[in-house]
Amino acid sequence: MGDDAATIEDYYHEGRTFAPSAEFVASAVVNDPAIYEQAEADFEGFWADQARSLVSWEEPFHTTLEWDLPYAKWFVGGKLNVSYNCLDRHVEAGLGDRVAYYFEGEPGDTQTITYSELLSEVSRFANALKRLGVNSGDRVCIYMPMIPRTVIAMLACARIGAVHSVIFGGFSPDSIADRINDAAAVVVITADGGYRRGVPLMLKPNVDEALKSTNTVRSVVVADRCGGNVDMQSGRDHWWDELVSAESDDCPPVFVDSEHLLFLLYTSGTTASPKGIMHTTGGYLTQVAWTYRAVFDLRAESDVYWCAADVGWVTGHSYIVYGPLCNGATSVIYEGTPDTPREQDRSGDPGTWAKDRLWSIIERYGVTQLYTAPTAIRTFMKWGETWPDAHDLSSLRLLGTVGEPINPEAWMWYHEHIGAQRCPIVDTWWQTETGGQMLTPLPGITVTKPGSVCAALPGIGVELVDDDGNVVTEGGGYLTLTTPWPGMLRGIWGDPQRYEDTYWSRYEGRYFAGDGAKIDSDGYLWILGRTDDVMNVSGHRISTSEVESALVDHEAVVEAAVVGAIDETTGQAIVGYVILRGDVESSDALRGEIRAHVSKKLGAIARPRVVIVVPDLPKTRSGKIMRRLLRDVVEGRELGDTTTLADEDVVDEIRDRAESDDSDDE
Ligand code: WTA
Repeated sequence: MGDDAATIEDYYHEGRTFAPSAEFVASAVVNDPAIYEQAEADFEGFWADQARSLVSWEEPFHTTLEWDLPYAKWFVGGKLNVSYNCLDRHVEAGLGDRVAYYFEGEPGDTQTITYSELLSEVSRFANALKRLGVNSGDRVCIYMPMIPRTVIAMLACARIGAVHSVIFGGFSPDSIADRINDAAAVVVITADGGYRRGVPLMLKPNVDEALKSTNTVRSVVVADRCGGNVDMQSGRDHWWDELVSAESDDCPPVFVDSEHLLFLLYTSGTTASPKGIMHTTGGYLTQVAWTYRAVFDLRAESDVYWCAADVGWVTGHSYIVYGPLCNGATSVIYEGTPDTPREQDRSGDPGTWAKDRLWSIIERYGVTQLYTAPTAIRTFMKWGETWPDAHDLSSLRLLGTVGEPINPEAWMWYHEHIGAQRCPIVDTWWQTETGGQMLTPLPGITVTKPGSVCAALPGIGVELVDDDGNVVTEGGGYLTLTTPWPGMLRGIWGDPQRYEDTYWSRYEGRYFAGDGAKIDSDGYLWILGRTDDVMNVSGHRISTSEVESALVDHEAVVEAAVVGAIDETTGQAIVGYVILRGDVESSDALRGEIRAHVSKKLGAIARPRVVIVVPDLPKTRSGKIMRRLLRDVVEGRELGDTTTLADEDVVDEIRDRAESDDSDDE
């Protein structure tokens, strides 16, 4: 139990450990623990070795790192092209017939794309972009569904040195306009729409709306995905297929400096205005290439890897596009939602959605590694194991998670019901800003604990510090990074001051990640969530994620979100929102029991003052729970900005429940 001076107290102690099997270790890509010490002795040398062995350089770099805090330059003097690394060199090595992507559309259409086909398509499209006047360094926005042409568009930009800015397909016209204006983009690449839950979700009309309040865009390229029934403005708008039909499939890659800007990605802030995170070429590619290979234990000749994220987020950039392609891997891309299509015959009720699309895809393609988010795993838990149980998942040999803390119960469910207790789980902590994975097990080395990200990767420096910046060696603190890393952000587009203030001013000489974390007596790291998710109850700082884990540990609870609501006596009072298992009815007695369960797991200090049963939780479109909205509801405030909310109705339902459950509880 933490003492009063602790920065963030930790109440949860996990005893279970899972070592990789001897068989897995024997054939793992990385299985010698000495790698940690070697990298620690010389992290620059470690990354220089990876850059030389995994990336092809047109001109070799002469200096590994120039570090002028907080500005880093990696692999200085080197010249390379990312699309050359992802495509040409594999084709030159005789791997042109290897499948780069198995694509499955939501309606069930499929497409298999080899490396040589991808190279031709990328070259053709890159030539089309040149014809539209796109030059090296120009910014191009990509607002697309999850289809192969999205990847082609990104690689085509990289081929000619243009900078892509992918805008997630769920964003509104205002968000598109903000991003276009901030980056002064000259071209937008979009599609008429994409399929989502059985219907076309239109995208092009949002671009038209956005372009009314921008003035830098000269051309719009539109991929036909849903039948092409959209307005086209003559002179400005071009159909993708018509544009590329006349282009040659030969487009020499433009070799750029290692520090050339590769892409901007705006972070999906739940609060202030989005930041255009800048990623450059050589360092980023090196880190995603190495982490992809080592963390997912890649066997490129036989694996079929699947990252079920959207390419609109950094996970899609690094671990659907650049990491896998740089390594010559074979991946799956799926367009839609995990509970599509509607189930026709199994229950006889055409109104229900089938909930086994993911498991069916894994079975049909023989997927070997699955990378997904805790929020998805908890949803699958809620749906029940009968869905995965109906499929042969024996091809899987490794599982990954990313995006938020995974509570031990969800980790165990993933381990038992998806991984058949056989697959190592890599819980990977990283951020849009870090470019690639930073804290995670290495599957052939690490003995994992459910819910722990375990340790920093070789070559990454991490330390926890308290409020005053003193290093914490056991217990809770703030997560900081102590050494530059190749994939680190190089700044915020157009706002160097904000870059310095946000990440580098809180603790001198350290990158401040904005997350709370703890280190246990074995030295394992546990992410406790964003620091604004840390509550202060009677002077005790308690992490929302620990209380959430304890709530979900109760057998009736499948998902939970915890917020600290202002309380006159205690500073903040803990409020737990819970979703119950399908067959369980809410009652006063049950809510009391759930609160008592938290006391039992974590101590009375962590017992929620109130537990509110809700049908759903407000989430951003990337699946992060919007605790700010939950706080607004419980404190009876008008709601702030809800533009990043995935489903607006959820909040009304929660408000109704909050009123009824609050009044009869305590
Ligand atoms: C959270 C996603 C716990 C964290 C790649 C971080 C995690 C933020 C994990 C970045 C994890 C990401 N365990 N929390 N394994 N991975 N996070 O920029 O709060 O969308 O700061 O990048 O997600 O989110 P972003």
